[in-house]
Amino acid sequence: MQDARQIGYRAGRTSAMNVNGKPMRTIWATEDQVEILDQTQLPHELVIRRLRTADDVARAIRTMQVRGAPLIGAAAAYGVWLTARADPSDGALEAAARALLATRPTAVNLRWALEAMTAALRPVPPPQRAGAARAAADRIADQDVAVNRAIGEHALALLRALEPRRPRGGGAPPRLNVLTHCNAGWLATVDRGTALAGVYAAHDAGLPIHVWVDETRPRNQGAALTAWELGQQGVPHTVIVDNAGGHLMQRGEVDVVVVGTDRTTAAGDVVNKVGTYLKALAARDCGVPFYVAAPSSSIDWRIDDGRDIEIEERAATEVTEIAGRAEGGARVTVRLTPAGAPAANPAFDLTPARLVTGLITERGVAPASRQGLAALFPTEGARRS
Ligand code: MRU
Repeated sequence: MQDARQIGYRAGRTSAMNVNGKPMRTIWATEDQVEILDQTQLPHELVIRRLRTADDVARAIRTMQVRGAPLIGAAAAYGVWLTARADPSDGALEAAARALLATRPTAVNLRWALEAMTAALRPVPPPQRAGAARAAADRIADQDVAVNRAIGEHALALLRALEPRRPRGGGAPPRLNVLTHCNAGWLATVDRGTALAGVYAAHDAGLPIHVWVDETRPRNQGAALTAWELGQQGVPHTVIVDNAGGHLMQRGEVDVVVVGTDRTTAAGDVVNKVGTYLKALAARDCGVPFYVAAPSSSIDWRIDDGRDIEIEERAATEVTEIAGRAEGGARVTVRLTPAGAPAANPAFDLTPARLVTGLITERGVAPASRQGLAALFPTEGARRS
């Protein structure tokens, strides 16, 4: 393992988020390779992995060393760059894009990034494609950072309009309670995050923000990743089991729910980590606003109905087993279910647009509807294919 801080600096790109007090992105490229923070090792260890080929990148996405819709898009773009360095022919680039696209089916950012890379490289003669691919992949990564910054500013305006409340049963100072699901933070993007961008902006602005962190079974992105990154940035938070959210909302202990999205349809349906829908239902019943942070790279302009989106089905062992660290530091996996118990593992679910209070995009907050999105994105909204 290398010193992550030094490597983050060497990569020479700006970063808003800190690891052990030093700025760091989740992915960066050196002269000849891509480096990532291996998210399967968090929160217990900070491990940097080097990726040298598009196959390496595809494996990192498939095994969820990198994960989160915007980050897998950026990683795929760098995968195309690695291919262009080795073989810039049309055939090699097309094969790499196909392999990268096949890694995970639900998040549309993957397709968006690969289409952007193809469009950037097609007119370029092969000898110049490596340089053009690197510039295009860097642009996608930098654009993600800028988009998330803008989402954070729009979310901050929403959070400022809410009234901080005193926690129940005590003289503790008032706080603003945000509930989030999965990890739609810095680790799911190149920097800042989408759902958590507003949380970080609010924390930086001095708002008394507190985050309820859904653990997010079965892979525990909330307990492992969101809790870790909020801790790194010094944002007050509390991890809860997935089933506690409805109870907290009923008791008035959640002021707003903010989640990310893997794919939002042109009509505002949202597909995000499984369990999001149940939070949206509870929020509607309890009168709690339910916002989705949706960068335009996660909007699928070709689809209106969220039921048309493929939901990734993952290994049953993610449900029947759980992994963690034993007291002495050893990594352990234990079985939760009777041996041989069947398990199903849909990784995402659909929250219909009618349950979404608003979509926080980089261009502002849109009603979750075709008209709402088209008003902010007239070009994309008018284009159907
Ligand atoms: O399976 P994952 O961990 O890649 O799923 C991630 C999520 O569902 C996030 O909420 C989503 O990608 C939005 S990330 C900004």
